[in-house]
Amino acid sequence: MRHSQNPDRNMCDSTALPFFINGEVIKGFGRGSKELGIPTANFPLEVVNKLPDSITTGIYYGWAQVDDSSVYKMVMSVGWNPYYKNKEKSMETHIIHKFETDFYGKNLKVALVGYIRPELNFASMDDLINTIHNDIKQAEIQLEKPEQAEIAKNDFFKPNC
Ligand SMILES: Cc1cc2nc3c(=O)[nH]c(=O)nc-3n(C[C@H](O)[C@H](O)[C@H](O)COP(=O)(O)O)c2cc1C
Repeated sequence: MRHSQNPDRNMCDSTALPFFINGEVIKGFGRGSKELGIPTANFPLEVVNKLPDSITTGIYYGWAQVDDSSVYKMVMSVGWNPYYKNKEKSMETHIIHKFETDFYGKNLKVALVGYIRPELNFASMDDLINTIHNDIKQAEIQLEKPEQAEIAKNDFFKPNC
């Protein structure tokens, strides 16, 4: 497994974004695809534990790449999923692209570009699903901005980086 990297990080930028990190995709609980219809790729705990304190829990948008695939828009949940009351912190990436197969064991590179909202609890699963769809819409809009689109071209996403 390669190490987390932060090639463009401006140390004077207290927002810590964009933040670049990569690791192997592992199996989550499988609820994303089955219950929510929103598949997510999960990082192992050793990758989650590399997150600096500046990356607080919550929902982010950014860019993602699986092995040598194109770079796609993504949304990511960082935290304990209050609706499901998880015991372990997780980083769950939903890539905004239709993949034909799952990609457990593959290398996932992500750039966290912007923060959307804190993690929330919900009265119903429909509320959770609708809120995630709204996150996806926001990500689609934000990532069209030239300065955000530029991050997808970062050397981090080049092969062998
Ligand atoms: C964009 C996005 C936003 C999410 N927001 C929340 C949230 O506010 N509260 C919550 O409990 N879980 C949230 N989740 C986590 C989902 O509940 C989680 O991905 C789902 O349980 C699937 O997990 P699994 O792959 O481990 O089965 C979010 C996930 C994504 C991708």
